[in-house]
Amino acid sequence: MTAPILRTLGELRAETAKWQAAGERIGVVPTMGALHDGHLSLVDAAKKDCDRVIVTIFVNPMQFNNPDDLENYPRTEHDDARKLERFNIDILYVPDGPEMYPDGFASTVTVSGLTDVLCGTHRPGHFDGVATVVAKLFLQTSANDAYFGEKDFQQLQIVRRMARDLDIPITVHGCTTIREIDGLAMSSRNLLLSDRARVKAPALNEEMERIAEEIAKGTPFSELQDAAIRRIENAGFTKVEYLEVRANDDLELLDTPTRPARLLAAAWLAGVRLIDNISVRD
Ligand code: PAF
Repeated sequence: MTAPILRTLGELRAETAKWQAAGERIGVVPTMGALHDGHLSLVDAAKKDCDRVIVTIFVNPMQFNNPDDLENYPRTEHDDARKLERFNIDILYVPDGPEMYPDGFASTVTVSGLTDVLCGTHRPGHFDGVATVVAKLFLQTSANDAYFGEKDFQQLQIVRRMARDLDIPITVHGCTTIREIDGLAMSSRNLLLSDRARVKAPALNEEMERIAEEIAKGTPFSELQDAAIRRIENAGFTKVEYLEVRANDDLELLDTPTRPARLLAAAWLAGVRLIDNISVRD
């Protein structure tokens, strides 16, 4: 069934107020659209847990530090709505820019520490934009549960910390990364890859899996890092922004995973920035 598309906060609140009065559990899946199976797995998880499910689509200008990136971001609302039909969600919330950031909007949510590393170093202001819009979406939807992919692992940890620090009563669920058959992590940005680049893209995950195996055998990451970066670049990536092992909870840099940790990477392929992460210790 096609979900009602609501574009204003007033319409959204009129619906959620009824659900809250009935004691229903509300789940939200925040997205920027261009939905793929990774997003749909989040919707599936929300449907299993919650009485009501809201999917949001908002290409958030505040989290883009590059105007071309914002301009080129895929916008596929019609297809997205069609892909959601089989889930029978309750609302597809698609606010526009002025609805989300009305004239005079002047507030920013900053989560310090967690945002100073990894993608935060390479995309100044990005996570302020994410934390601000996600805080707004949590408050706008009054959701009890929110669903995010582990593919954006740093984002997930930032959102968790933001909700905790601001006392927003919501449970943030991290869901497993969904991959293409060749290992490439699903991402809306994959749509921007040319056919030639798409063939090369799985090399990033292949190399990460190889490193994870070495780490599991006890090799310190510092002995693997340089050669791994060279192999990724030799496979066709133009630049590896980072390839690091970090603790899950506070993203502290580790050489050997003495506590639950992930290997995280960002690299450019033919003008497209890809990120990925895998567990090196659960
Ligand atoms: O992961 C995304 O698609 C976005 O960063 C999010 C969480 C929807 C905020 O705009």
